[in-house]
Amino acid sequence: MKKRIPILAANWKMHKTIEEMREFFSSFLPLVEGVSGRQIVIAPSFVGIMEACRLTSGSQVKIAAQNMYFEEQGAFTGEISPLMIRSAGAGTVILGHSERRHVFGEGDELISKKVKSAVDHGLHAILCIGETLEERNQGQTGEVLGRQLGKGLSKLNGDDFVGISIAYEPVWAIGTGQTASIEQIQKAHDFVRLTVAEHAGEPVAEQIRILYGGSVKPGNVKQIMELEDVDGALVGGASLEPESFAGIVKFEEN
Ligand code: PGA
Repeated sequence: MKKRIPILAANWKMHKTIEEMREFFSSFLPLVEGVSGRQIVIAPSFVGIMEACRLTSGSQVKIAAQNMYFEEQGAFTGEISPLMIRSAGAGTVILGHSERRHVFGEGDELISKKVKSAVDHGLHAILCIGETLEERNQGQTGEVLGRQLGKGLSKLNGDDFVGISIAYEPVWAIGTGQTASIEQIQKAHDFVRLTVAEHAGEPVAEQIRILYGGSVKPGNVKQIMELEDVDGALVGGASLEPESFAGIVKFEEN
């Protein structure tokens, strides 16, 4: 039994039309019916959120957004606010994903504002952090994770921490098929928990969920989930097929 309730989260990125999403849920929901002791979260595209909420209502699947802007409204063409995400029916938002950082140039300061805004608006935030291959090879993993985490959490205080989880996703393991080794994952998660303790205190660090992401598949999820400091998985590619993501949700059975 895990100390903390695990989260199995799907990040669909820029995949699936509404029609493809409907097909996914019609196969996926029966596969996970009755599965307990975990939270199942799926992040479709923004335009899929409302329909995903409708399709999953009455099931245990919760819907998330993949990003948001921190303001409630205004002249921010192309952006989506926390109020819009809430009113569409999602209760969780992924923030600071490596593709947001590296493809769209989001920095730690912007991400920290998003994290604070999400929590202030009652959204559960999954803050993503992770080092590039170059940073790892130069021995900077701790420094990078420490900075991303320290800045990402810097605007939170007190009860805010109840509203967040962390996803450790080494950039070099995302979408590459190259999962971090069990030792690398445990070491990074242990470091993340210690860093959270430094910023927010021991009790927060004990309860916060730390997800691993980066080429998680049905074939490796069990071993990863067995690690003491891994409290879930954030899954891209392997979450797009119903059987594959159901296999990840039911990680003990692999
Ligand atoms: P992947 O993506 O599972 O395809 O490696 C993970 C992520 O980007 O969250």
